[in-house]
Amino acid sequence: MVPAVSTTTARACANIALVKYWGKRDARLNLPAAGSLSLTLDALVTTTQVTFDPALADDELVLDGAPARPGELARTRAFLDLVRAAAAITTRARVVSKNEFPTASGLASSASGYAALAVAAAGAAGIALGPRALSILARQGSGSAARSLFGGFVRMHAGRADDGSDAFAEPLGSPLTTRVRMVIAVVGGGAPKTHGSRDAMEHTAATSPLYRAWLELVPRDLAAAEAALAAGDLAQLGAITEGNALAMHASALAARPAVVYWQPATLAALAEVRALRAGGHVAWATMDAGPHVKVLTTADDATGVAAAMRKVPGVTEVSISAAGGPATIVAAGAP
Ligand code: PMV
Repeated sequence: MVPAVSTTTARACANIALVKYWGKRDARLNLPAAGSLSLTLDALVTTTQVTFDPALADDELVLDGAPARPGELARTRAFLDLVRAAAAITTRARVVSKNEFPTASGLASSASGYAALAVAAAGAAGIALGPRALSILARQGSGSAARSLFGGFVRMHAGRADDGSDAFAEPLGSPLTTRVRMVIAVVGGGAPKTHGSRDAMEHTAATSPLYRAWLELVPRDLAAAEAALAAGDLAQLGAITEGNALAMHASALAARPAVVYWQPATLAALAEVRALRAGGHVAWATMDAGPHVKVLTTADDATGVAAAMRKVPGVTEVSISAAGGPATIVAAGAP
């Protein structure tokens, strides 16, 4: 039992995978079937305050100023249970989480959300976990959250152990870290509700004839991406990034029934990225479990790429991110 009220606030940046995580080897522990590689982004930040309070009868979750829906609260409660078990406490918690994302971007915030929650909850519960243990904890909230513990380029290990003790992320240094930018083109306008990544990756693994080929591709793309990062070869990294995203979507498109995340504007944005490249710009596209297009580019090219994306019909909002830093505690102590 935490004797008194105890609060910690943490912030974490979202990340975008350049080599995607798409498929699990264990659904309960969120163990990935393959590794992944991402870039943490400084413009997409979640700040989360966790307060363990003996006066609370149940956990509470406030997301962007409003009480969370029951499903979101249940997922957070299950995550807090992991922290309570590790700290040998039963105290309930109030979680107040705020996303500083481009307005109404519809971008997934589970990576930054669970990374910030892991750091804040462990801190408030009084358990001292190192970055690797925090990555393993965050992974159990959302697979991609394991990567948001770290800044810059990050490698997630699939691991082999049944208990997930070797399925964690770690940062990868690269001469490209300060040079790269990610332009985020939000595709809006009447998009039907997309399939959540959790269900969609399970459905792809169960029904897609291309899933096996996808799993064979990932280790090759990871090795080539790591070599490109070490060599500072952005053209090579970009080619892997775009090819890997298209392969992930191909596996999902081939599921039965199909998982289709793209809108017409997604393909228009993709065509613009290829035209920019043909025109001599550095621009490589990636897409996740939604219609938005993220463009890997350089500090020098980012403004021009963003301007071109703004002109694509159906793109409603465009922002530029540099590489973000690791998840950190921003305040601790009594509320
Ligand atoms: O962490 P989840 O369960 O939201 O899955 C993330 C899935 C993708 O964003 C599509 C790929 C990735 O590696 O982030």
